[in-house]
Amino acid sequence: MPRKAIYPGTFDPITFGHLDVIERGSKLFDELIVAVAANPHKETFFSAKERVELIEETVKGLGSIKVKSFSGLLVDFAKKENCGLILRGLREMSDFSAEFQQAIVNRKLSPGLETVFVMTNEDHFYISSSVVKKIVSLGGNVSGFVPKPVEKMLKTKIGQ
Ligand code: COA
Repeated sequence: MPRKAIYPGTFDPITFGHLDVIERGSKLFDELIVAVAANPHKETFFSAKERVELIEETVKGLGSIKVKSFSGLLVDFAKKENCGLILRGLREMSDFSAEFQQAIVNRKLSPGLETVFVMTNEDHFYISSSVVKKIVSLGGNVSGFVPKPVEKMLKTKIGQ
């Protein structure tokens, strides 16, 4: 049976930290679905469509990766995709408690659904989507934090 996993997130926008998790996930699994939460409980700067397009451009040529958006519960999306594995990245201890809670809630909602974690590369652990947006809004350079298409789109939307 080919191993398939879902890497869910808000990706507002995708950063090199996320990309690192995607690259490693694509080596661990035969198929990886990057699942963009269309209605996360936080307001987003980019629309779901824009977030999907930015990820698609970023992962071009990277093995068996699909990019989809979903709304509602992640467990329902996983069922619809017939997938029993969730992939998430862990940066530091502060990520752990929230990730732990989410993984347990998901398993309670959908027994058998496993969450696997990869440790984020030490070169990327300090990056976050909000930091990137803040730097661009203040006129800074984010070329070391996000892929080229994201940098371009940020500059266009923020008007730099
Ligand atoms: N390296 C660097 N930064 C990373 C990272 C990594 N490997 N992984 C995450 N981050 C950062 C992101 O940049 C982002 O930064 P920000 O807070 O400044 O925006 C933050 O960590 C989290 O982002 P991300 O991983 O994109 O998404 P998320 O944690 O918001 O995703 C969902 C959460 C979408 C997976 C979760 O809310 C969900 O499943 N929602 C669907 C509804 C549901 O089923 N809920 C559960 C039951 S109530």
